[in-house]
Amino acid sequence: MTLRITVIGTGYLGATHAACMAELGFEVLGLDIDPEKVAALSAGQVPMYEPGLGELLLKHVAGQAGSTGRLRFTTSPEEVADFGDVHFICVNTPQKKGEFAADMSYVDAAVDSIAPHLTRPTLVVGKSTVPVGSAARLADRLAELAPAGADAELAWNPEFLREGYAVGDTLHPNRLVAGVRSERAERLLREVYATPIAEGVPFVVTDFPTAELVKVAANSFLATKISFINAMAEVCESAGADVVQLSQALAYDDRIGAKFLGAGLGFGGGCLPKDIRAFMARAGELGADQALTFLREVDSINMRRRSRMVELAREQCGGGFLGRRVAVLGAAFKPNSDDIRDSPALNVAGQIQLQGAQVTVYDPKAMDNARKMFPGLSYAASALEAVEGAHVVLHLTEWQEFRELDPAGVGALVAERRLIDGRNVLDAAKWREAGWTYRAMGRPGVE
Ligand code: UDX
Repeated sequence: MTLRITVIGTGYLGATHAACMAELGFEVLGLDIDPEKVAALSAGQVPMYEPGLGELLLKHVAGQAGSTGRLRFTTSPEEVADFGDVHFICVNTPQKKGEFAADMSYVDAAVDSIAPHLTRPTLVVGKSTVPVGSAARLADRLAELAPAGADAELAWNPEFLREGYAVGDTLHPNRLVAGVRSERAERLLREVYATPIAEGVPFVVTDFPTAELVKVAANSFLATKISFINAMAEVCESAGADVVQLSQALAYDDRIGAKFLGAGLGFGGGCLPKDIRAFMARAGELGADQALTFLREVDSINMRRRSRMVELAREQCGGGFLGRRVAVLGAAFKPNSDDIRDSPALNVAGQIQLQGAQVTVYDPKAMDNARKMFPGLSYAASALEAVEGAHVVLHLTEWQEFRELDPAGVGALVAERRLIDGRNVLDAAKWREAGWTYRAMGRPGVE
């Protein structure tokens, strides 16, 4: 009999996982505590911008014309516990207010909500990013609460998907990691990920703490790579060198590689910043804080990028922001996403506004979220509207749409042709030819 799967938490991770499991042929039931989200998903609507996810939902959500009907959503933990053979926990673990540590309350609540109803053999699989040691603690909790006792088992199977590529990353992962304590748990996870997902994909079977650590170690490495090149950008600024050329030259060494070596405004989002902080906090609790002191530096280099951008903008505004209009292109923390959590672009926009400039923001997808979170900023309906009368244009999230702007056309609308490229991806020569002062981060010579 085919396994029946449930997914607890239907954010970026959970909604994608649920739709992809339905795509693989499983009967899937998604659980969320938010009735509005459940209603939207049940109607085939994705509550966020994630390319490809809407199509997948419509293909599988029960009640949609022509759908397979394999995917449903509910707010009832009892129904979920009764339905599933394998339960995936996909709730978020945000940073605690005023601390570095991760807030585990959603994960704990997820286990507590279904455990008392687990009466037959099941596997509960954690996918959320958690402090190492959580899986062991949750396994004990499960054993204590579930009527099925030892037959309700736990496994840890971290998720590495990127926003904007969530569907592709879930269906074609680089690797699968399974933290298990029994052969049965391993067998069930292998069954879930049987072809086509697991075909040719390394399947790492390990213990709980190693599985938990793979995820935070991967994100720490990526964050470190970005901050490394941004540290080089700082040196380039002082030495008169060009960080884009430096990065390209480094990347020819395939031990280094080109990915995550893009210098600019640095990283943001709901994962990298909070994951490195939670990792430091957990290492501290384990007495291993010295091992991760470098992550504090990774974090500070990253945050310095934002101040540096504010400084560059002030310079371009003639030394002060009062009475100046600043156009900000981009609000999402990265392109192809409407996610504004810890967005470097909005952080910079907010700082500049506070210092007296009139800031107008435009983003292709993140406007609604930005308006809700930063109601004090002005918003424009297009890039061209945002730049009207601007004394400086800041390119802060590298949407394709911004690369395609016509420098002459944009130039006709601004008060002064001054551009700062916070992502080092625009064609500097093209902008300069159209009479712009082009300034980038870590490329003092390119003006
Ligand atoms: C990240 C991890 O990539 C993913 O594996 C994990 O599951 C969740 O966290 P995500 O937060 O979606 O995914 O974004 P990602 O594409 O990794 O980008 C993170 C940030 O780094 C963005 O703000 C991006 O703009 C920035 N970045 C990325 C750079 O500044 N330079 C680069 O070269 C690459």
